[in-house]
Amino acid sequence: MADSTKTAKLTIDGKDYELPIHSPTAGPDVLDIRKLYAQAGVFTYDPGYTSTASCDSTITFIDGDEGVLLHRGYPIDQLAAKSHYLEVCYLLLYGELPSPSELEDFEHRVTNHTMLHEQMMNFFRGFRRDAHPMAVMVGVVGAMSAFYHDSTDINDPWQREVASIRLIAKMPTIAAMAYKYTIGQPFEYPRNDLDYASNFLRMCFAVPAEDYVVNPILSRAMDRIFTLHADHEQNASTSTVRLASSSGANPFACIAAGIACLWGPAHGGANQACLEMLKEIGTPDRIPEFIARAKDKNDPFRLMGFGHRVYKNFDPRATVMKESADEVLELLGVENNPTLQVAKELEKQALEDPYFADKKLFPNVDFYSGIILEAMGFPTSMFTPIFALSRTVGWVSQWKEMIGDPQNKIGRPRQLYLGETARDYVDIEKR
Ligand code: SDX
Repeated sequence: MADSTKTAKLTIDGKDYELPIHSPTAGPDVLDIRKLYAQAGVFTYDPGYTSTASCDSTITFIDGDEGVLLHRGYPIDQLAAKSHYLEVCYLLLYGELPSPSELEDFEHRVTNHTMLHEQMMNFFRGFRRDAHPMAVMVGVVGAMSAFYHDSTDINDPWQREVASIRLIAKMPTIAAMAYKYTIGQPFEYPRNDLDYASNFLRMCFAVPAEDYVVNPILSRAMDRIFTLHADHEQNASTSTVRLASSSGANPFACIAAGIACLWGPAHGGANQACLEMLKEIGTPDRIPEFIARAKDKNDPFRLMGFGHRVYKNFDPRATVMKESADEVLELLGVENNPTLQVAKELEKQALEDPYFADKKLFPNVDFYSGIILEAMGFPTSMFTPIFALSRTVGWVSQWKEMIGDPQNKIGRPRQLYLGETARDYVDIEKR
């Protein structure tokens, strides 16, 4: 915690209170209210945590007004252009870019943990074939705590390290198996001679009946999508992982909780909802109808892939994703993809509309990602599992940071109670 030199004065019922203010290395100052209830007997009130810092962290910084996203200080556009996902994983986990030998060792450790315990296959077979892959991932990742007992003691740094590597390594295998199961095809085992993204593509699209050669264009695009989704400060699913971890629950159970939260359409489920929306719009001439619905206070419809709690300018990930969509679809010879055309026209019309401009609503990371994933051959139901796969390193990095913090304590918010005050029970005969 940064030392506080500044204070804020608060006056309640004529009594003055001084609260320390902490200054960050970047971003807004924070008002330290930890002693407020003990001193003044009042709570703060912030549903949705729009003005609340839940922790201090050194992992990811976002400036929503400037459209800045830094991972350990490195801008996301530079990482997407020059790095690759496992190197970004190392950076998020350990705080610095790896040396060549450090990277080689890390990639070797991840590669050699990609297989899943053979008995876990039974979990997949317990689901209906039409189960959503996210339901399968929540179940299977939670079940990992029943198989990997030697990496569930969060107080043992070595077990924390092993659990971190296992989760990052096995998530692509689990996601691919969840996909294969829903389409009735046999599981494909990971291969140690393939890089992380190529391995995932092969496990998803290879079949025993023929050889499968990974398309390097798709593998590079897949790796970039993983990088763009790796971490994002204290978003809803990361906050879920932190809150679950604060009780001392094992890492697999906490990551399963993060997957469950990410599934929601307001969060990681938006990429699936966005592509389904673009397909429902179908042609550019129907865009005004949907923009009108998004602006109608009486219509719950929102433009999926638009808006963000933090970004009140462009989402830097969406910028990279849009460039990648153009590149991948052109290389695949589908640059005239009608869904991409609708997306670009929708973005143009929305950004020219005062409603979106005034409310600072811009395309977010989910607006273009689905178009690329669909062009790569994924069904919409696999979009959020791919987001969960990518975000695992962010959840794990934030979990390690929290567990390793001596200030760590169980998270337990209070409330503004508006219910009944104390009253006596009324016997049923008298009601
Ligand atoms: C992710 O937090 C993260 O970092 C998340 C994420 C990550 O990497 O972890 O970036 C990933 O979740 C991206 C967001 C994906 N979700 C969507 O694309 C779903 C559509 N977007 C919205 O549901 C919404 O924008 C949120 C949930 C993303 C943000 O909601 P907020 O911050 O609570 O904002 P709000 O709901 O208070 O909206 C402010 C105003 C409202 O109008 P008023 O009540 O002020 O009149 O803007 C309107 C909203 O109605 N609005 C929209 C809109 N989003 C907000 N109107 C139409 N379409 C939209 N998409």
